Amino acid sequence: MKNNKIALITGCTSGIGKALSVKFAQQGYNLIWVAKNKDKLKELSNHLSQNFRIKSVFIAYGLEKPEAAEYVFRRVQELDLKIDVLVNNAGFNEFGSFIKTSRERF
Ligand SMILES: NC(=O)c1ccc[n+]([C@@H]2O[C@H](COP(=O)([O-])OP(=O)(O)OC[C@H]3O[C@@H](n4cnc5c(N)ncnc54)[C@H](OP(=O)(O)O)[C@@H]3O)[C@@H](O)[C@H]2O)c1
Repeated sequence: MKNNKIALITGCTSGIGKALSVKFAQQGYNLIWVAKNKDKLKELSNHLSQNFRIKSVFIAYGLEKPEAAEYVFRRVQELDLKIDVLVNNAGFNEFGSFIKTSRERF
């Protein structure tokens, strides 16, 4: 089932983002994936594109960088794509007491 819509999912290579990527692919969304690790992005892209016959592109970039949002925006414009759904999920969580976590880690 194809719906000709495009979803951009950040943090798509593991956990919640990966689970959502599968759900969107099952619904026939074409996908733009964003995460840091290029190898994991390639693997996900090949796997889901073949299994669900969707189109996909990935953008390997560290979203912690101050210019990251602008970079991703420009790449999407260069690809001439229009996004229907944004899942802005990338990030990490630290277990334990907030006050005991170092500033550098955050
Ligand atoms: N799991 C929970 O119980 C829970 C609870 C509350 C909130 N959350 C939030 O939900 C989101 C997903 O959690 P999760 O447990 O599914 O995380 P996860 O399994 O650790 O996956 C994180 C994803 O984000 C990507 N990522 C991390 N830092 C990045 C960066 N600087 N730039 C680009 N991509 C980056 C990782 O890709 P790379 O490997 O390429 O970096 C990976 O695809 C996080 O924002 C987390 O804080 C989770």
